This record gives sequence, structure tokens and C-alpha cells, in this order.
Amino acid sequence: MARITASVYTSHVPAIGAALDLGKSDEPYWKRVFDGYVFSKQWMRENKPDVIFLVYNDHANAFSLELIPTFAIGTAAEYEIADEGWGPRPVPKVIGHPELASHIAQSVIQDDFDLTIVNKMPVDHGLTVPLSLMCGQPQAWPCPVIPFAVNVVQYPVPSGRRCFNLGRAIGKAVASYDEPLNVHIWGTGGMSHQLQGPRAGLINAEWDNRFLDRLIAEPAALSQMPHIEYVREAGSEGIELVMWLIARGAMSDNAPRVRHRFFHVPASNTAVGHLILEEQ
Ligand code: DHB
Ligand code: FE
Repeated sequence: MARITASVYTSHVPAIGAALDLGKSDEPYWKRVFDGYVFSKQWMRENKPDVIFLVYNDHANAFSLELIPTFAIGTAAEYEIADEGWGPRPVPKVIGHPELASHIAQSVIQDDFDLTIVNKMPVDHGLTVPLSLMCGQPQAWPCPVIPFAVNVVQYPVPSGRRCFNLGRAIGKAVASYDEPLNVHIWGTGGMSHQLQGPRAGLINAEWDNRFLDRLIAEPAALSQMPHIEYVREAGSEGIELVMWLIARGAMSDNAPRVRHRFFHVPASNTAVGHLILEEQ
């Protein structure tokens, strides 16, 4: 059977992708960010998964205001890199895993979560920046990726509780796939940031670190936090953090092993948070 052996959490700041693509990762400002991922890249090489289930949000690139799925699972064989206005990032295309993705869709939809099935979806910085942070600049990504897009851009957005329970259903779906695949699940986006309005630039490092503590130790209780607290405490874009609860919900109820924890302010307008949790 397939097994989720680890979960990874990371911010997806688009300027990180630009810094990497433009050769600026050794500049002191960016080096402080990339230093937090040196261990992670080594860990990825040593613990290469067969498939990454990558929870992220699209930023009105694949889905405009004309069509807004709350949860969209990518079942395609491959995904092109989105052009976000200045050409697609120079990174490898994303190879999918249609068989496992279709199985998860079948299982999770029969478990009462209404996923949108997507067979064509350009992937934006929400997905490619986490891959770059964890894998560097390879010729090809190390394994197939199942993109799972969550609406955290246009209200109403899903609650943390729903995301956590959806993660549980995804974990159950993976565990019933009849092939011995090693699967990692990633929760991306966050941490505190607000890109617009009078509070633009808001960062709340204390709240972010408490979120990391609780995500590790008491995710079910954390999932009860209402969405308005994310917005009030972590800024309008801090709501992206509900996606981390999908990845956390997919892990077993055993206490995870914390392989890596990193927090840094600032990167562009956001606080960067990063965790690697392994199943014990
Ligand atoms: C920034 C951060 C994001 O998460 C995003 O999607 C776009 C921009 C920023 O820091 O500027
Ligand atoms: Fe974002």
C-alpha cells in the first residue's frame, strides 16, 4: 500500500523564485532565507519520495474570478508553468501522477468532500517556489507531483477545520492505494503577511511561531481556530496557512518527528516559515 512518510510546510513568496531565477540567492538578504533550506535540500535527496502531494493556492493564474473551485485536484499527466505576467519561471514542467490522483479523487469524493477535478492547469509560484526551495534548480523535478489547489484568495474560503478533516480523508485515500509508494504531502503558503490596504506589510512573528508549535503538537485543536483570527492576527494573506492543516491532517495521530524547523523575517512582504515532519 502507499504510505505518507513525511509532511513539509513552507512559504511560497514569489520574490524567492525571482531571486533564484535571477542568480541573487547569494546576496545577504536572500542568503538568510536560502540558508534555512540547506538541510531541506539534503533531506530531499536522502528521502526522495515517489510522489509529492502538493497543497497550494493558485493566485488567479489558472482560475480567474470566472471560476473559483474551493478544492481542485490535478489529475493530469503534466502541468505547464504559469506565465504570471513576466513569462513563465525557467523551471522544469511538473509531471503528474494521474493514477494516484484519480484514486484520491475517488476516495475523497466518496468521503463527502466535493473536489473539482482538473485536467489542465498551469501552476504558479504557489507550487513552483516550494519546489525550488526544497529541490534547488534541477533539470527535472525529482518525482511526480499531484497539485492540489485551495481557494484562499476569494471569499468565502474554507475553514481550518474543514481543511484538517480533508487532510484526514486524503491520508486515508493514500493508505488504500494498492502500490507501495512513498508519498510526501506538502502544505504551502503563509506565514503572516498582508499585501494590501492600511495594514499592508503586517507581520506577526509571535503568532506565527505559536502556530508552528501548535501545528506540531495539537493540530486538531489548532484546526478549530476561526478564519477571522488568521486574518486579524496574520494578515489577509495569512489565511493561506489553512492549507498547512490539510497536510498535517493527512499524517497519522502519532506524534511526528520534527526533522527541521525554520522561521525568518522578512522575505519580501512575508514571514517565512518551514517545517519538515516525519512519521515515527
Ligand atoms: C507576496 C507573497 C505572496 O504569498 C504572494 O502570493 C504574492 C506576493 C509578497 O511577499 O510580495
Ligand atoms: Fe501567496
